[in-house]
Amino acid sequence: METIKAIMTRRSIRSWTTEPVSAEERKVILEAAMNAPSAADARPWHFITIDDPEVIRKFTTMGGTEMLAESTFMVLVCGNESKEIYTGFWPQDCSCAAQNMQLAAHDLGIGCVWIAVYPLEERVKICRQILRIPDSITPFSLIAMGVPNEVLPPEYRYDEALLHHNAW
Ligand SMILES: Cc1cc2nc3c(=O)[nH]c(=O)nc-3n(C[C@H](O)[C@H](O)[C@H](O)COP(=O)(O)O)c2cc1C
Repeated sequence: METIKAIMTRRSIRSWTTEPVSAEERKVILEAAMNAPSAADARPWHFITIDDPEVIRKFTTMGGTEMLAESTFMVLVCGNESKEIYTGFWPQDCSCAAQNMQLAAHDLGIGCVWIAVYPLEERVKICRQILRIPDSITPFSLIAMGVPNEVLPPEYRYDEALLHHNAW
């Protein structure tokens, strides 16, 4: 799929079939994540892959996350502050990785949704507990994936009112 087309047609998918995400597809998605740009190329991230239905089920009670029970493959993007070269950029770096994953998944026909974790303290705590994440690592966002069981039309959100030219 052409990059611009992927960007303009991606939607958050929250309903999935039981068909698994293949090993090849998982690898492509994780390669896209780790190819993301990061400040000073610090790559301050880790990725926890989750496909055990029992573990996935534990995330369904975070509030508004019941649909995760249908997800067949999830990746928790985590920040590793100790890898930073310029302090404070890790959330932006992790966002780049997460969005790369969303676009790669869409390109492959895999539907996904970004579930907010950081900076929601309660969700950060829940993720730490479920996945036994060390204190030095911060759970950032959960990318829940699967073969789509819904089709959402592209949305065109370009808004000239938000543009400023040469000055505010
Ligand atoms: C930082 C961030 C946090 C989000 N958190 C959630 C979330 O916790 N639960 C959820 O269902 N969707 C979440 N989303 C998905 C947004 O709701 C979705 O991207 C937005 O409504 C636009 O819809 P679209 O992705 O289909 O274009 C999040 C997206 C981003 C970028």
